[in-house]
Amino acid sequence: MHFMNKSNPIGVFDSGIGGLTVVKELNTFLPRESIVYFGDTARVPYGSKSNSTVIEYALQDAGFLMKKNVKMIVVACNTVSSVALDVLREKFDVPIVGMINPGAKAALSSTKNKRIGVIGTDSTIGNAAYSKEILKSVVSAKIFEKACPLFVPLAEEGWTDHEATKIIAREYLSELSQEKIDTLILGCTHYPLLKDVIQEAVGNEVKLIDSGGAAATVVEDYLQGRNLLNDNAEKRADLFYVTDMPRKFTFVAERFLGRKIPNIMKIDLDEIR
Ligand code: DGL
Repeated sequence: MHFMNKSNPIGVFDSGIGGLTVVKELNTFLPRESIVYFGDTARVPYGSKSNSTVIEYALQDAGFLMKKNVKMIVVACNTVSSVALDVLREKFDVPIVGMINPGAKAALSSTKNKRIGVIGTDSTIGNAAYSKEILKSVVSAKIFEKACPLFVPLAEEGWTDHEATKIIAREYLSELSQEKIDTLILGCTHYPLLKDVIQEAVGNEVKLIDSGGAAATVVEDYLQGRNLLNDNAEKRADLFYVTDMPRKFTFVAERFLGRKIPNIMKIDLDEIR
């Protein structure tokens, strides 16, 4: 068993910078835990790729974090969580938390009428990851899923309140609203940035579930239960690794994290292959 020390960091990875929304949640729930983040910005997006490619990349991404001596891994990417979690758990000897189970559980505790909507990338929706997870515990639930691929570039463009985004949101979400859902899972790293527009499109009576926030509470419970919470008064600075730094990168990344990012390092893809 990989040696786990309380003061070791939590590893978090994503296909790109979207997972910083999950780091933001972890920073809020667990302010003393230090994070090592890996974002595969050279190969993003994963959401439109085949399962086998996503699995291959996910193994490399998690392998990189393992070399940083992480005490656990949080798979911030919903696409990776949908297709690669079992393979990752088989291969790596640390606890691995994904987005699907925490998001599904949070939705089940929120819904009253058991009619739940799920939005995500083509891959997450195509694999029916959330439906399968929800139906495992409540067979009578009715799940309505919709891929919303255009939300990713809109969030990165910062069009969080733009008329174009509102039109696209209405177009994507009107079917779900007609199904009388009372709960909607934001099953993609980027969607929390668009939550106001999404809420407006589905109406205030629908409760939005942020899988990243739900996962942060699972991580907290897990570390607490195993006496692995960092009890040093000081935490080490979070570290951020990416495989490419395109133009505007820092600006967009800081919007997702909600604060300045002082320690970003670019690594070569050859280092993880
Ligand atoms: N991080 C991805 C997810 O949560 C969205 C971006 C991508 O397609 O890679 O599914």
